[in-house]
Amino acid sequence: MKGLFVALACVALSEGLMRIPLQKTKSIREKMAENGAYLPFSDPALKYKPNKFLASTAIDPMSNYGDSSYYGSITIGTPPQTFQVLFDTGSANLWVDSVHCNTPACNAHTKFNHSRSSTYNSTVKTFYLPYGSGSLHGIFGYDTVNVGGIVVTEQMVGLSTNEPGRNFLVAQFDGILGLSYPSIAAGGATPVMDNMIQQGLLKQNMFAFYLSRNNQQGSEVAFGGMDNTKYQGQIHWTPVTSQTYWQISINGFLVNNKTTNWCIQGCQAIVDTGTSFLTCPQQYIGFLMQTIGAEAGQYGGYYVDCNANDLPTLSFNIDGVNFLLPPSAYIMNQNLGGYQYCMVAISSTYLPSQNGQPLWILGDTFLREYYSVYDRTNNQVGFAKSI
Ligand SMILES: *[C@@H]1O[C@H](CO)[C@@H](O)[C@H](O)[C@H]1NC(C)=O
Ligand SMILES: *[C@@H]1O[C@H](CO)[C@@H](O)[C@H](O)[C@H]1NC(C)=O
Ligand SMILES: *[C@@H]1O[C@H](CO)[C@@H](O)[C@H](O)[C@H]1NC(C)=O
Repeated sequence: MKGLFVALACVALSEGLMRIPLQKTKSIREKMAENGAYLPFSDPALKYKPNKFLASTAIDPMSNYGDSSYYGSITIGTPPQTFQVLFDTGSANLWVDSVHCNTPACNAHTKFNHSRSSTYNSTVKTFYLPYGSGSLHGIFGYDTVNVGGIVVTEQMVGLSTNEPGRNFLVAQFDGILGLSYPSIAAGGATPVMDNMIQQGLLKQNMFAFYLSRNNQQGSEVAFGGMDNTKYQGQIHWTPVTSQTYWQISINGFLVNNKTTNWCIQGCQAIVDTGTSFLTCPQQYIGFLMQTIGAEAGQYGGYYVDCNANDLPTLSFNIDGVNFLLPPSAYIMNQNLGGYQYCMVAISSTYLPSQNGQPLWILGDTFLREYYSVYDRTNNQVGFAKSI
């Protein structure tokens, strides 16, 4: 049966496209800062190569989830238990908090109780996702997962058994639903998207994200097609260069429409809904902040004078098309203790790409401007101007 489902908590478009509304959290960094606590700014790339860097660093990649994250509801088990999950194109596993776990982070969230699910099948297979200081231990099981009315059976689900990290404690979601390629899934798990494809549940083997701006409602992830009410103009497609993350080529980086030489030998980018900021290769962050006129803040991060009116437009050339980021896209206004701050929603990463080219992460800073489509049939990513 292809693509015909009844939606419960979501809106069914014609022809089997399911849309799941997403909520945006108020910035946790902002909330904590109001109370005098400051999250460290860290390199989100740690989540990509956790094992390699674990021994030498305590940087916590999950803290970037704290800036803002977009999450939505799924259910697991029979009868269904509901969870808020981060839909993350930068990882491939599904995991949720579970009754196996009793740390403060787990106790602050909804926990999956496998004993209450008649369709649950257990395994003895454990997993460990070392997110720097916010590591996660768990055990795999299989159960039915309902994603916006799309019912996936025998889905491998990670159940947390130990979650010591501070950053999971402040997270608004109970788990993560990874949407990357199966090659990077821990424990050889078949990702949710791959099961949807194998079980013939989608009209088209694609999903797409609309991330709203300025805390507005309307964010959503669509499975099985694109939602043409969420973008304008045409979709520009570019091939996936490595079927691990949703990685693509960047052909140029421009400041005020003038090409820099940063990507003259080519750059790579990972398109990642689970990273809040745009992330710049470490060797260029100093130049970039100088160009913007930003200065490092006391607690990390970069800030500009809120009255500055000559901030540049940045752009990425992707397959011949320039995708512009005006200052309104990369400056975040924050009101902390009555003071107005203008933070640059760009950080740096030291992780190079597999081919040695400078690596960017197109996180939510970029994805609020551009509707993004992830096509597993043709292994390509599409971008169009968001509404
Ligand atoms: C899980 O569900 C079982 C069966 O309903 C119940 O006995 C048990 O107390 C539940 N565990 C937790 C931690 O809620
Ligand atoms: C559990 O395992 C049985 C036997 O292998 C299988 O028939 C059933 O579909 C499985 N259920 C789930 C939810 O994975
Ligand atoms: C940059 O180029 C775009 C078209 O790609 C154009 O709309 C815009 O006005 C240009 N901006 C500047 C500062 O020249």
